Amino acid sequence: MADASVDRWQLLVSAALAPSDGDPTVRFCQLATVDRDGSPYNRTVVIRGFRSETNELHVVTDARSQKIAHLQETPRVALCWYLTASRQQFRFRGCVTLVDAAAEGDAQDLRRSTWVALSARTQGQFLWPAPGTPKTAGALDNPPPPDTPLETFVLLRIYPDVVDHLVLTSIPHQRTLYRLDDTGHWHRHPVNP
Ligand SMILES: Cc1cc2nc3c(=O)[nH]c(=O)nc-3n(C[C@H](O)[C@H](O)[C@H](O)COP(=O)(O)O)c2cc1C
Repeated sequence: MADASVDRWQLLVSAALAPSDGDPTVRFCQLATVDRDGSPYNRTVVIRGFRSETNELHVVTDARSQKIAHLQETPRVALCWYLTASRQQFRFRGCVTLVDAAAEGDAQDLRRSTWVALSARTQGQFLWPAPGTPKTAGALDNPPPPDTPLETFVLLRIYPDVVDHLVLTSIPHQRTLYRLDDTGHWHRHPVNP
């Protein structure tokens, strides 16, 4: 079933978020990557935003984290998001663009505006020692973060090409797959839950 007029899954995500308005925990989801041997890794991240014109989801992370090494080899992710209040699960698969300190033009502008929107507390985390390295004694180097993004700050632009939407509020549950074709059109397929 072709649905070129609108990327309907985006509207569904917005609607599913509505009952949790103001609750920051609703934006926690699980992001999976694979290492060079194909071994999967999963971790919680925060969805920082959407861009409806380009169908992208945004996550921020540390350039030194393991997921970055994975994405440099295999720039694809799976992202699983369960919205408790609306009892809906969205599972995304898609490719990722890394926007780091070397990015230019519009991408760098987006990285800066994403940085500025973060709380000072979250910005300060990018001054912490490298994630996953052995912990050493000593105080954290934690001066006030600058107005421009730290070198360690990376924006992940996630472009889903498959969205698997499961709704638990009806019996039987409703499940719909959305797939992006090579011409940029989304196709909607209701499937058994
Ligand atoms: C509630 C919660 C939110 C988190 N949000 C983020 C996030 O937005 N970005 C991020 O890189 N890590 C976030 N983390 C930390 C990751 O889960 C993970 O520990 C870290 O990114 C290192 O993962 P990696 O070594 O697999 O790259 C969050 C953890 C929790 C529990």
